[in-house]
Amino acid sequence: MKDLYDDIDHVLIDEATLQKRIQELAATITADYDGIEDLMLLAVLKGSYMFLADLSRSLRRPHAVDFMGVSSYGGGTKSSGAVRIMMDLKEPIEGRNVVIVEDIIDSGHTLSYLRRTLLARNPRSLRICSLLSKPVRREVEVPMDYIGFDIPDEFVVGYGLDFDELYRNLPFIAVLKPEVFAHLYQ
Ligand code: IMP
Ligand code: MG
Repeated sequence: MKDLYDDIDHVLIDEATLQKRIQELAATITADYDGIEDLMLLAVLKGSYMFLADLSRSLRRPHAVDFMGVSSYGGGTKSSGAVRIMMDLKEPIEGRNVVIVEDIIDSGHTLSYLRRTLLARNPRSLRICSLLSKPVRREVEVPMDYIGFDIPDEFVVGYGLDFDELYRNLPFIAVLKPEVFAHLYQ
């Protein structure tokens, strides 16, 4: 079997840079939630699992964690705009202070849909934290409270983000070699 790293064209955000920025985000959120009770991190599966693990460990406020599974992509690299809830939260969010934890905001369709859906459940507050953002790709505006990095219009993998369910386990954010995508266009 080939080595995982053979498919990488280049590293966009290395491990140290990622970790340093996540510490900064955690410090900001910790400060913002001073005196606020009942904080809940709502992680959007699957892409945000690694980000959630590091962010959650660095937060100095007591918080619950819950998960939601949504799907907006098939096996490809372009969003269809159609979002579906594949797995819902275990707990109600009414009256709670919720921070959505996402891996990346691209077109904005996923977070726009999630935000509307969750606001209808009457949380006390709802904020959004995304590790990555591709500003030039935005089709719908979504109010973002915390963003780790703005990145260019390139398909990225690693640190939870996948291509065709693979490469999530890379500890950095990377761009794949063009030939890895080749089978999509045949
Ligand atoms: P949006 O609905 O277009 O904003 O897309 C959001 C979702 O698409 C993210 O939660 C990711 O799962 C996926 N996505 C968008 N861009 C990328 C990328 O560059 N790499 C991997 N997944 C991506
Ligand atoms: Mg995602």
